[in-house]
Amino acid sequence: MELKDRVALITGSGRGIGRAIAHLFAKEGAAVFLTARTQRELSATAEEVSKTGGRVGFAAADLTQEAECAHVVAACREKFGSVDILVNNAGHYGPVVPVEGYPLAEFDKVISIHLRAAFLLSKLVLPEMYARKSGVILNMSSLSAKAAYSWGSAYAAAKAGMLGLTRVTAAEGARKGVRVNAICPGPVTETQMSKELGAVLAKKMGVSAEEQLAEFLNGLLQGRAQTAEEIARAALFLCSDQSSAITGQSINVDGGVAFY
Ligand SMILES: NC(=O)c1ccc[n+]([C@@H]2O[C@H](COP(=O)([O-])OP(=O)(O)OC[C@H]3O[C@@H](n4cnc5c(N)ncnc54)[C@H](OP(=O)(O)O)[C@@H]3O)[C@@H](O)[C@H]2O)c1
Repeated sequence: MELKDRVALITGSGRGIGRAIAHLFAKEGAAVFLTARTQRELSATAEEVSKTGGRVGFAAADLTQEAECAHVVAACREKFGSVDILVNNAGHYGPVVPVEGYPLAEFDKVISIHLRAAFLLSKLVLPEMYARKSGVILNMSSLSAKAAYSWGSAYAAAKAGMLGLTRVTAAEGARKGVRVNAICPGPVTETQMSKELGAVLAKKMGVSAEEQLAEFLNGLLQGRAQTAEEIARAALFLCSDQSSAITGQSINVDGGVAFY
C-alpha cells in the first residue's frame, strides 16, 4: 500500500477526477477527506469508499470562500487528526467567451476556485506539514496552462498561475520535508466539466459534439481522451514516496500534446 496511514484532503471529490483520486488513495491505505459544494455527491462517494473498506469523511464547502476553506481543514483534522496530503482539484471552467466579452465577476470566480483556493488551503496546511517535516501538495492544473485555446482566459490564467504557485511552494517547502507538484491533464471527457465544455464548444463551432471531440482528440499523439483513473494514478505517484525526489514539477497526463 502506497499511502498507508496517510490522511489525504482531496477537493472537488464528489465526482469526476477528484472522486477517482479518492477511490484510489483509499484503496492504497489513505484516510480520505472529501469536499465540494454538493452534499449529495459527497455522501454518495463517501458511501462507495466506505463500502470498499476505506476510511472516509467529508464536509460540504464552497472553496471560493476563505472561511469555508478553514472549516474544511479543521473538519479533516477533527476527523483524522492531520492533513498529510492536500490535493487541490476543485474547479469549474467558467464562461466560454473571448477576453473582451468575459465578465469580470466570472473571471474572479474562476480564479477563486482554482488558484485562490489552492493558495488558501496550502496556507492552512503548510504550518502543520513543516512542524511534522513531511507533507505533499498536489495541484490539479491543466493542458490549458501550457497550450492556447480560445475562449477560456480565466481558466488558462488560473491553471498557469497554479504552476507558479506550485514552484514557489515547492521552493519554500523543499528543505522542510514538503513536496509540491502539479498535474496537467488533457481532455478527461467522462467528467461533467468536460462534457459541458464540449457541448458549448460544439455549439459555438457549429458542429456536433461528436465532431468537436473527434477533431480535438485527433490533435493528441495517442488520439484518445484520458480517463479519470489515469489522472488518479499519476496523482498517486506524485503523492506517494515513489516520487520522493520530485518537487516543483508539472507532469503532463495528456496523451502527448504538451512537451514542456
Ligand atoms: N476534465 C478535464 O478534461 C480536465 C482537464 C484538465 C484539468 N481538469 C481539472 O480537473 C479538476 C477536476 O475536474 P473534473 O473534470 O473532474 O470536473 P467535475 O467532474 O466537474 O468536478 C469538479 C469538482 O469540483 C467541485 N467544485 C467546483 N466548484 C467548487 C467550489 N466553488 N467549491 C468547492 N468545490 C467546487 C465540484 O463539486 P460541486 O459542483 O459540488 O462544488 C466537483 O466535485 C478541475 O480542477 C479541472 O479544471 C479537468
